[in-house]
Amino acid sequence: MLAKLGHRVIGYDVDEVKIARLSRGELPFREPGLPELLREQLAAGRIRFTNDAKTAVTESELLMLAVGTPSAPDGSADLRYVDAAVDTIARHLDGPKIVVTKSTVPIGTNRRIRRRFAELVDASRTPVAVVSNPEFLREGSALRDSLHPARTVIGGDDPAAMAKVRSLYDGLDAPCLMCGYETAELIKYASNGFLAAKISYMNEIARLADAVGADVETVAAGMGLDPRIAPMHLKAGIGYGGSCFPKDVDELLAMARRHNLRLRLLTETKRVNDTQIDWFVGKIAAVRPIAGSNALVLGAAFKEDTDDQRESPGIRLIEKLLRLGAGEVRVMDPTVRAAEDLRWRRRPGPRLLARVRVVTEGEDAARGIDFAAVATPWEAFRRLPWRAWAEAAARPLLFDGRNFLDPAEMREAGWTYYGVAREVGG
Ligand code: UDX
Repeated sequence: MLAKLGHRVIGYDVDEVKIARLSRGELPFREPGLPELLREQLAAGRIRFTNDAKTAVTESELLMLAVGTPSAPDGSADLRYVDAAVDTIARHLDGPKIVVTKSTVPIGTNRRIRRRFAELVDASRTPVAVVSNPEFLREGSALRDSLHPARTVIGGDDPAAMAKVRSLYDGLDAPCLMCGYETAELIKYASNGFLAAKISYMNEIARLADAVGADVETVAAGMGLDPRIAPMHLKAGIGYGGSCFPKDVDELLAMARRHNLRLRLLTETKRVNDTQIDWFVGKIAAVRPIAGSNALVLGAAFKEDTDDQRESPGIRLIEKLLRLGAGEVRVMDPTVRAAEDLRWRRRPGPRLLARVRVVTEGEDAARGIDFAAVATPWEAFRRLPWRAWAEAAARPLLFDGRNFLDPAEMREAGWTYYGVAREVGG
């Protein structure tokens, strides 16, 4: 995106294989539109990749940290990759630089990065300004989100460095917020926590809608028309996953604990999300006992248009069905070719693993199944041979955990359709 905006970009990583692939124009993950853009910018000479830290540091004016910040066992963010990146930069500094923190880092991290530089380098020879610039893109629509952001947030206390970072995005039409480090850091976490809470709220409303016979999709549509609520992230389903919401909610809770605070809404947000699969599986079990049933799970990615399975509700569903004694669990996902491609949360033992079979569209995937369950709303799932599958299934029971398929069409194709709080006949 920065290359597309006209900047000259160097991508640095310690992983040589990744760098070699990127240099050849191969993206090591799935993201719509990005392979084409990568090849276009490589050809234009605006982007290149290296695993030579010295080149990366000495030839750049701005150094953007985009390393992972995984969850430590206590829920707090693990900053070892941030620290390692800072050390690498410090080793090769040859003049004034601006270090921009893109990674989602806990409150206080930008100051910690600044302190680390102060310890490691001579500020009179090689001054380093640290600027916080959190990222708000979504996987699966990363490119669109980057080119049409809702806002740019720049945090720091060096106005010249902050203005320089702001100028990176001159070509974009988005409001820019300039603030202090802690404020910028919290804007990122508070936004993700709020979106996670919005989803958990709708998942709770779905449980109530299901009990009273209301249609949660129409409830969400009615709510979303109020501009104070807005229609986005109101979709009930089997819970949120991915590399951000679960981890960021955990870090917010850990952060609050460090300050002797309890964030009650977020504690419940997490609890609702952690139990949404149980609720959904309960709905299946009320129709068809799980033990001994053969199931087809559609979707392993945490959302559509990505191959990322981190904290995926689909994976959770598969694990849950296996633990409840399902016979065979077949898995279909456009990004999964073999059982080794599945990223388990808690890896099932060999006995349970033997019951997992990855199937593809071409196969007679639904033969003999007792039910199918949709875990990821991949567009391709609409075009599956539903009619033939309904005939091949032992029981044509379809549980749509994402309220994604058209209930009327599925019924017409021969399935008994159950959504998440979708009105019968809706
Ligand atoms: C999220 C934030 O949206 C983004 O701003 C931030 O930078 C990173 O975290 P991402 O995790 O990539 O992005 O995807 P998102 O579309 O937000 O979905 C996250 C999870 O919530 C997915 O599992 C998705 O299926 C689920 N979800 C999303 C719902 O269950 N209901 C919704 O209404 C929206």
